[in-house]
Amino acid sequence: MAPRTLSLGKMALLVLFSLVLTLALGMGLPEGLSFFARLFGFTESSVTYGIVLLYLVYVLYVAVPALPRGTVPVEGKHVLITGCDTGFGFALAKHLHAIGFTVFAGCLLKDKGGDGATELKSMQSDRMKVLQLNVTSDEEVAQAVEFVKKNLKEPERGLWGVVNNAGVSGFGDIEFASLDNYKELADVNLWGTVRVTKAFLPLIRRAKGRVVNIASMLGRMAVPSRSCYSISKYGVEAFSDCLRQEMYRWGVKVAVIEPSNFVAATGILTRERVEIQADKLWKEASEIVQEDYGKDYFAHQVVLMKSFLNSGLKDMSLVLNDITDALSSKFPYTRYNPSDTYWWVRLILTTHLPAAIADWIYIH
Ligand SMILES: NC(=O)c1ccc[n+]([C@@H]2O[C@H](COP(=O)([O-])OP(=O)(O)OC[C@H]3O[C@@H](n4cnc5c(N)ncnc54)[C@H](OP(=O)(O)O)[C@@H]3O)[C@@H](O)[C@H]2O)c1
Ligand SMILES: *[C@@H]1O[C@H](CO)[C@@H](O)[C@H](O)[C@H]1NC(C)=O
Repeated sequence: MAPRTLSLGKMALLVLFSLVLTLALGMGLPEGLSFFARLFGFTESSVTYGIVLLYLVYVLYVAVPALPRGTVPVEGKHVLITGCDTGFGFALAKHLHAIGFTVFAGCLLKDKGGDGATELKSMQSDRMKVLQLNVTSDEEVAQAVEFVKKNLKEPERGLWGVVNNAGVSGFGDIEFASLDNYKELADVNLWGTVRVTKAFLPLIRRAKGRVVNIASMLGRMAVPSRSCYSISKYGVEAFSDCLRQEMYRWGVKVAVIEPSNFVAATGILTRERVEIQADKLWKEASEIVQEDYGKDYFAHQVVLMKSFLNSGLKDMSLVLNDITDALSSKFPYTRYNPSDTYWWVRLILTTHLPAAIADWIYIH
């Protein structure tokens, strides 16, 4: 076995980096502050106050809610949202409409007379346009582009925003989940997002508009039994990062929304869906997996998943406000974390601590 060694060059770089950082923070900071104190005629002792003040500014920066950054005018701006049948998409369509946007509400079940599409249509507003849109279908996405082009007041000025919201969820340990489980979730969550974004980008670039992708906190960190979902959402994050970088030169801004647990507020994972999935997972697992893990372990996982269903935030307004900010702020953020405190802390710790320590805190 090859010994675990660090190349000499890499080691030297790491040591050098630590030295520079130590010198900069340990000596550079007081030195620099002394310099400014002398420059402006303050006493040397004010340097201590300076350090305390810097620290205070930092703490305030972390603690104070986002400063207002100005908004773009909303009138005459059109936004397409996918997955408007239920949940965030349905609520967002109404919310954006209420604040003055013209909404193209893509619904999976419009042609089948789904409740969400029917209710949005019954608003009978010029600014609420409901269309059939299954994000896994090339044909329906192409038809959606045509529909949007035809219904834009000034097509040459493009489409202001796309919100990739359509999504499906699931659970199940890796040894229970079939490859088809992985593919089904990725088809909607990841390839659906890629397909819709690519189709609408020419219109979005015309408007120097916005792409808003609904990923998840599970697009930044993984938890046991959610690998199918997490993979698809990590993919959305990677896609959004590339897109953001490629779009700078076009003036298009890309934002990712990473909600924590809002399961209780939406239709993404109902008790019924969990039960259907659980049945399927157990039946399709190999004999050896059933035997090794055991029915008790599996039943416990299902109970855990069901308890998760009742644990989330019931008010979606955090999510709706963040999506609205991403669409209408002059300076939208790259990432938004609408979340409760528990998951916010867990996300920060998991993405900043060494993995072994984060696992020790949360998983063992
Ligand atoms: N709720 C949460 O806790 C949470 C947390 C983080 C991220 N998210 C993300 O938020 C987004 C919205 O989900 P939600 O929580 O509002 O759940 P939801 O109520 O289930 O909404 C998702 C909608 O997308 C639709 N959809 C499914 N497959 C589609 C397809 N192929 N084409 C078009 N639409 C399709 C669903 O229709 P059907 O119901 O008929 O399948 C549903 O109406 C998803 O991307 C989800 O991953 C949710
Ligand atoms: C969405 O489109 C896919 C691929 O074309 C198809 O397999 C699926 O049945 C469609 N879903 C609905 C609800 O129409």
